[in-house]
Amino acid sequence: MFPAYPTKVFINDEIFDYQSAKISVFDRGFLFGDSIYEVMVQINGSFFYEKKHLDRLSNCLQKINIDFAIETLPEKIENLIRVSNLQDKDCLVYIQITRGIAPRKHAFPKTSNPTLIMYTLPFVLPDVNENHISTVTMQDQRWHRCDIKTTSLLGNVMANDYASKQNAYEAVFIRDGRITEASHCNIFFVKDNIVFTHPADEFILDGITRQLVVGLCDDLGIELREIAVRQDQLIDMDEAFLTGTTTQIASIRQINEYFYYQKEKTGPITKKLQKAFLELKKEKKKEYHTLN
Ligand code: PDD
Repeated sequence: MFPAYPTKVFINDEIFDYQSAKISVFDRGFLFGDSIYEVMVQINGSFFYEKKHLDRLSNCLQKINIDFAIETLPEKIENLIRVSNLQDKDCLVYIQITRGIAPRKHAFPKTSNPTLIMYTLPFVLPDVNENHISTVTMQDQRWHRCDIKTTSLLGNVMANDYASKQNAYEAVFIRDGRITEASHCNIFFVKDNIVFTHPADEFILDGITRQLVVGLCDDLGIELREIAVRQDQLIDMDEAFLTGTTTQIASIRQINEYFYYQKEKTGPITKKLQKAFLELKKEKKKEYHTLN
């Protein structure tokens, strides 16, 4: 098993043992969830699509008007990885940037320095996620800016707790009768060899894994439609799968009481995409320490 806590935590250019890593009570990330985060994985000494993750981080910070020099991050991450003794080891890195410390007033403060928090944990992904997962549906009670990767995750956290209390891996959100995404993954469906997923608008996070799968469909000549599947169409679908940085591509065995594709086996399109995704990881391994 991997350790639950990291050995080291980076806060604003200082690195602490995790027990002594502390932030101010007046940090807006703590008080308001006024912050953006990223999670990415290092595979064989190189971050998997690091540039895509850092670009998304930068875009999300711009969306909420936090001014932060993203180009300073790769060096800081490298230093943290070294101090954490995880150079060349498979691991994940968590990055959070808050609006910083200010007296508690809702409006953005006129001046504040962003707080940067990072840690890294050993984390080895399987080549292919062979789990056939169970999911449950629930109403999407989150706000209308799910495209922003904010740490204000109460809606996601409550949803995932609802799922886990039913022994399900994920809660699949329904908004206005349409499937949006899951509490920490994007969702895809397959019908008659056509792949469907919700468009990348303000109702979902445009996952990096989602973007890669969209590209793989194109490479493989699989038709993809960025159209939301309706709740009443769920049981007409042939296959369903989740995507996410730590989930990779996971075939959905069950949604509520409905079973997809022969209960045990992964459907053919999901399998094809999992195989192509594995190739993508192998290719990336060759590009040692490059920004992709
Ligand atoms: N979750 N949708 C939501 C709501 C997410 O939180 C995530 C990521 C995704 C998938 O995005 P990506 O493929 O870029 O990981 C979709 C992260 C990993 C988390 O909260 O830990």
